[in-house]
Amino acid sequence: MSRIITLDEFIIRRQKDFAYASGELTGLLRDIGVAAKIVNREVNKAGLVNILGVHGLENASGDEVQKLDMYANQKLIDCLKNSGECCGVASEENEDIIQVPAIASKNAKYVVVFDPLDGSSNIDVNVSVGTIFGIYRRKSDEKGPCTMEDFLQKGTELVAAGYVIYGTSTILVYTTGRGVNGFTLDPSIGEFCLSHTDIKIPDRGQYYSVNQGYYLKFDVEMRRYIDYCSDLNLRLRYIGSMVSDIHRILLQGGIFLYPNTRKYPKGKLRLLYECNPLAFVVEQAGGKAYNNQLGRIMEVQPHELHQRSTIVIGSPGMVDEMKEFVERYSAVPAMPKK
Ligand code: AHG
Ligand code: MN
Ligand code: MN
Repeated sequence: MSRIITLDEFIIRRQKDFAYASGELTGLLRDIGVAAKIVNREVNKAGLVNILGVHGLENASGDEVQKLDMYANQKLIDCLKNSGECCGVASEENEDIIQVPAIASKNAKYVVVFDPLDGSSNIDVNVSVGTIFGIYRRKSDEKGPCTMEDFLQKGTELVAAGYVIYGTSTILVYTTGRGVNGFTLDPSIGEFCLSHTDIKIPDRGQYYSVNQGYYLKFDVEMRRYIDYCSDLNLRLRYIGSMVSDIHRILLQGGIFLYPNTRKYPKGKLRLLYECNPLAFVVEQAGGKAYNNQLGRIMEVQPHELHQRSTIVIGSPGMVDEMKEFVERYSAVPAMPKK
């Protein structure tokens, strides 16, 4: 049996890989791991305590917020505020950025963006949910508070990103731009242990993941591509928790799509909290991530914190093929939508 490598040990070993190897990023990643364990504990007992159910509020993106969202949000904010390495955070659940007072952040150089609980509609039915995070080096002066420009950075500026899935087992996957590694939480010792080394996404896979219920609301080129997936007898899998759907595709190959619909003409998913961090992970594993305008997601300049985006992400061979469909069929006049 090979020796167990914990997340903390792995992060410290890899510190030298990072361009600004000062230990600050290492500390931040560790603190996110701690927050993930706290959220995991709560998610696991969600059926036992009176924490389930709708909180009765809407988040900054206008979606219904569940109680566990608020809990996860607060735990992440608390852990990051106390880390000393982070000068500000932006969360899907908060309208504005949250500045960490300089006294607690010692002129910290990083900001963190996150979706504290992704797939929250799955909580009540015991289906996997997750946390998604991205870390940027700040642009503003270290001596002052962080500013909006620290957050409105392209995905190409991410220094680290990852996600946690609270599923049949709890897994944390992250990248600092040198490949992707996954760690499974061993509840008996309370540690994330290296379980997926240097993850590489297959060039093609058997799965496509899209909310096919919206088929008639998609543009013609997207409908044609989905028909093609169906003709190929690809397997449709859609959990409704992007992080879980992407995790399957990362390990087994496939394509995930959330195109524009009539309800969400710019797409539903958030560029900062969902699309960019997952695009960074998938690209680092050898995959691709585009929007429906066929631009690379990570090169899009964000203009607002809660900006939405369309996304096509996954195995490189399949994403390229989807691009060909869009190029070919966007020349054809669209049929009127029902
Ligand atoms: P969140 O729970 O953070 O609001 O995210 C839900 C997102 C994403 O995880 C998922 O892929 C998508 O919403 C599902 O949307 P539809 O129900 O419209 O398919
Ligand atoms: Mn989400
Ligand atoms: Mn969420």
